[in-house]
Amino acid sequence: MKFCLTAVFVFLLNIVIFLPIAIADLESDKQSLLNFAAAVPHRRKLNWNSTNPVCTSWVGITCTKDGTHVQKLRLPGVGLIGQIPPNTLGKLDALTTLSLRSNLLNGALPSDVTSLPSLSHLYLQHNNFSGDLPANFSHQLNVLDLSFNSFTGNIPETVQNLTLLTGLSLQENNLSGSIPDLKLPGLKHLNLSYNQLNGSIPSSLKGFPNASFVGNLHLCGPPLQPCSPNLPPSPAYSPPPPVLPLKPGSKKKLSLGVIIAIAAGGAVMLFLLALVILCCCLKKKDDRGSGASKGKTSSGGRTEKPKEEFGSGVQEPEKNKLVFFEGCSYNFDLEDLLRASAEVLGKGSYGTAYKAVLEESTTVVVKRLKEVVLGKKDFEQQMEMIGRVGQHQNVVPLRAYYYSKDEKLLVYDYITGGSLSTVLHGNKAGGRTPLDWETRVKISLGAARGIAHIHSVGGPKFTHGNIKSSNVLLNQDLDGCVTDLGLTPLMNVPATPSRNVGYRAPEVIETRKHTHKSDVYSFGVLLLEMLTGKAPLQSPTRDDMVDLPRWVQSVVREEWTAEVFDVELMRFQNIEEEMVQMLQIAMSCVAKVPEMRPNMDEVVRLIEEVRQADTENRPSSEDNKSKDSNVQTP
Ligand SMILES: *[C@@H]1O[C@H](CO)[C@@H](O)[C@H](O)[C@H]1NC(C)=O
Ligand SMILES: *[C@@H]1O[C@H](CO)[C@@H](O)[C@H](O)[C@H]1NC(C)=O
Ligand SMILES: *[C@@H]1O[C@H](CO)[C@@H](O)[C@H](O)[C@H]1NC(C)=O
Ligand SMILES: *[C@@H]1O[C@H](CO)[C@@H](O)[C@H](O)[C@H]1NC(C)=O
Ligand SMILES: *[C@@H]1O[C@H](CO)[C@@H](O)[C@H](O)[C@H]1NC(C)=O
Ligand SMILES: *[C@@H]1O[C@H](CO)[C@@H](O)[C@H](O)[C@H]1NC(C)=O
Ligand SMILES: *[C@@H]1O[C@H](CO)[C@@H](O)[C@H](O)[C@H]1NC(C)=O
Ligand SMILES: *[C@@H]1O[C@H](CO)[C@@H](O)[C@H](O)[C@H]1NC(C)=O
Repeated sequence: MKFCLTAVFVFLLNIVIFLPIAIADLESDKQSLLNFAAAVPHRRKLNWNSTNPVCTSWVGITCTKDGTHVQKLRLPGVGLIGQIPPNTLGKLDALTTLSLRSNLLNGALPSDVTSLPSLSHLYLQHNNFSGDLPANFSHQLNVLDLSFNSFTGNIPETVQNLTLLTGLSLQENNLSGSIPDLKLPGLKHLNLSYNQLNGSIPSSLKGFPNASFVGNLHLCGPPLQPCSPNLPPSPAYSPPPPVLPLKPGSKKKLSLGVIIAIAAGGAVMLFLLALVILCCCLKKKDDRGSGASKGKTSSGGRTEKPKEEFGSGVQEPEKNKLVFFEGCSYNFDLEDLLRASAEVLGKGSYGTAYKAVLEESTTVVVKRLKEVVLGKKDFEQQMEMIGRVGQHQNVVPLRAYYYSKDEKLLVYDYITGGSLSTVLHGNKAGGRTPLDWETRVKISLGAARGIAHIHSVGGPKFTHGNIKSSNVLLNQDLDGCVTDLGLTPLMNVPATPSRNVGYRAPEVIETRKHTHKSDVYSFGVLLLEMLTGKAPLQSPTRDDMVDLPRWVQSVVREEWTAEVFDVELMRFQNIEEEMVQMLQIAMSCVAKVPEMRPNMDEVVRLIEEVRQADTENRPSSEDNKSKDSNVQTP
């Protein structure tokens, strides 16, 4: 009883003590934001109304999970004009991300903003801030972008201490002095171009491209031109004293010929010097000029393309409702997306995919879904699920989505390497090089791992549902990544029943229900496609394609195993055994009866074993030649 009372007392105490603190914290953040909004005029409405809840109805605000603090503030391009007063944004002490880029902010940047203790991402580019850079920075800073402003003065030495920094953009300001010696191990992106920096580039930064430093006339050293030794030359480099012919009696007077020679030499030297300076100036002008014209052409290209390609169904009041997933470092909003130049990547069974190039060379893939049958709540739930399941190196992550009555958009990372389908079947005349065996195995293993992850994290009901070679993308390391997962439940029963029928398990064609085992079947077809180089049946009416599983089964049954493999693979030596092993894995995946198929974890393990053997056998490949004759026994 006593214990019970104590517990209740402690509980009440907690409520009494902590609840008001939580409220007070948000209250103070709210006040700081209101002070900011009152002091800084803005062209677009922010809907920062003190009677509405901050976390859910104010534009540009993201709160911490517990709703006690403002965590992110993003107001790009809302026409903020004037100075940021100290003690406004600088009081949002839980802020991790601040983006006020592309506004008309000017004056000094208050140091209470840059030194907010948790601040990790600061985007203030494309404003007109002036004065010195603040010297006090948050030690959590990951990305610091102050480019395209009018900052002057030196780059503060304190930047050296920002050990977490991965991106530093200070280009197109008026910074002067020398570059501090930045020994920042994580720094990936650096741009100090178009300032007035001078001196030599610290050796710690010489690994960055010259595009990180161009447009600073007095900067030298690698990766730019070497510094000219204007300083007192070291003895080793001093030119030998001129040896003049000494004739008796000519000790004081130089002969006329010698004087002319020296004068002429001097003139030539001066002329050369002038020429070098002229060249440098012209070159710089040229750099600037071509940069500007490049900018123009790209923005020109932008206007050519209709902006409404995707997003024509976006409703005005919902413009800011692009929902990002946690851990996503993208920093754009829906309007940026709609403004971006777009290029059609492909039309799939679920809709059209566009490649969208945003500012700052961010490229994403936007998928515009058609015929979504789910309501908003269910749609959002499925998106959350896809976002959660997509956290794996072999799955292309879904970054954001947008839902309105007339428009549903999904935003993915742009993967550079194309799809397995294009590298397998692309036009060889168009420069496609045959895909070698090891790469094929690597891509397949990557895709298998991605699918296995989806199955294990998503639970028994969650399937990929649309495995095919055009949904396996190749990243920089030529690893396979699966995309387009989890979209089948959103759609009206297979929108176009004939498409991609070659990947569909027999039971799916009958029942239209996807299971883990039906994913395994589709993956088996994909393996067969990789092995044979043949595209599976895409539509029942096209006869240039084959029902891969049936064709392979018929060939193998007649002991012609070697005949099934892609002729492009015949150029590679000593891979027959592995090809046969992979063929066996593929055949088990496309078993007619779902229960006979392995599950995805087993498939991964089996492929890994092939690879294991692969790396063990390779060095002694010479001895393996004799095995060639065994090919026909599967
Ligand atoms: C704030 O919102 C309330 C109702 O939502 C409205 O009555 C009030 O006028 C708004 N205030 C301002 C300053 O917009
Ligand atoms: C930027 O600020 C400077 C003064 O700091 C001013 O001279 C200049 O006109 C401003 N530029 C723009 C585009 O507003
Ligand atoms: C930087 O921060 C320290 C402590 O956080 C403070 O004492 C100092 O005044 C700040 N300097 C500037 C220039 O704001
Ligand atoms: C970096 O931090 C260390 C200690 O944390 C401090 O001693 C040093 O002065 C700092 N350097 C700069 C340039 O701020
Ligand atoms: C940069 O500073 C120089 C003088 O140091 C000045 O002549 C120039 O106008 C400034 N440029 C800008 C864009 O503010
Ligand atoms: C760099 O420029 C500053 C003036 O902005 C000058 O004081 C300094 O001597 C210059 N340093 C070098 C190495 O040229
Ligand atoms: C920058 O590097 C590229 C290639 O590395 C070279 O073509 C170019 O001339 C360099 N530009 C300057 C200004 O050094
Ligand atoms: C740095 O910015 C300039 C333009 O401001 C651009 O031309 C250059 O390519 C950028 N450098 C890098 C490494 O991104």
